[in-house]
Amino acid sequence: MATLKATGLTKRFGGLTAVRDVGFEAKPGEILSIIGPNGAGKTTVFNLLTGFLKPDEGTASLDGAPLAGLSPESRCEAGLVRTFQIVQPFKGLSVLDNVVMGAMLRAGSVKSARIAARQVLVDLDMVSLLDVPAGSLPIGDRKRLEMAKALATQPRVLLLDEVMGGLIPVEVKRMIAFIRGLRDRGLTIVVIEHHMSAVMQLSDHILVLQNGQPIATGTPEEVSRNPEVLAAYLGPNFALAGAVAC
Ligand SMILES: Nc1ncnc2c1ncn2[C@@H]1O[C@H](COP(=O)(O)OP(=O)(O)O)[C@@H](O)[C@H]1O
Ligand SMILES: [Mg+2]
Repeated sequence: MATLKATGLTKRFGGLTAVRDVGFEAKPGEILSIIGPNGAGKTTVFNLLTGFLKPDEGTASLDGAPLAGLSPESRCEAGLVRTFQIVQPFKGLSVLDNVVMGAMLRAGSVKSARIAARQVLVDLDMVSLLDVPAGSLPIGDRKRLEMAKALATQPRVLLLDEVMGGLIPVEVKRMIAFIRGLRDRGLTIVVIEHHMSAVMQLSDHILVLQNGQPIATGTPEEVSRNPEVLAAYLGPNFALAGAVAC
């Protein structure tokens, strides 16, 4: 497993500074959540980390090795893997074949990729969906498929962009338990999430962005009591106990 470190990440789109001076360290066996209003720059941070965008300033490293100059594919090979907020399965392919595409990164043959992919789908409780075309899945299952595709690449650092979006409460509960299991196996996990109950239950640390800028960082307890965070995002009536209960 690996430590992901970002320092001073900044990204401008024309006159808009989407991400400004963002830094953090995500360690093996820990979950870091990045939260903030829509448009705060969260997904852009993932795009910078995974090489889909180039930062104007700042650096990122994996176990101390700089990521600058590496393609998204090379970063994936190094074990830095993301899910997409807008899920993008190969719609005509079955669920299994979609996950096989991820598993091919490490497998020596299609046969071993299929075995590995099947195991990931068993772990995610998706075995009844193996042969279903990905395009016909409801959103909750598409989110789990997105997770399966990422896991099939055997990541060391997993970046999850709103994997709870569209899930019904029982699915959220199952996803929380699953992500905790990954964390307990030593994976480094960075989560972007709007589902506050999930964030508060999962996170070891939280980084709050507003207009691209970090406005707070700390434990769920610390962040949920921070007046600036309550004003900018969580709302004045947010209470940690209530958020975790549901
Ligand atoms: N490729 C892009 N080109 C121009 N503007 C972008 C691009 N990607 C994101 N933005 C803008 O950057 C800001 C942050 O977007 P994003 O990172 O998607 O926010 P979040 O994920 O927190 O909702 C938004 O104002 C968005 O419109
Ligand atoms: Mg986003």
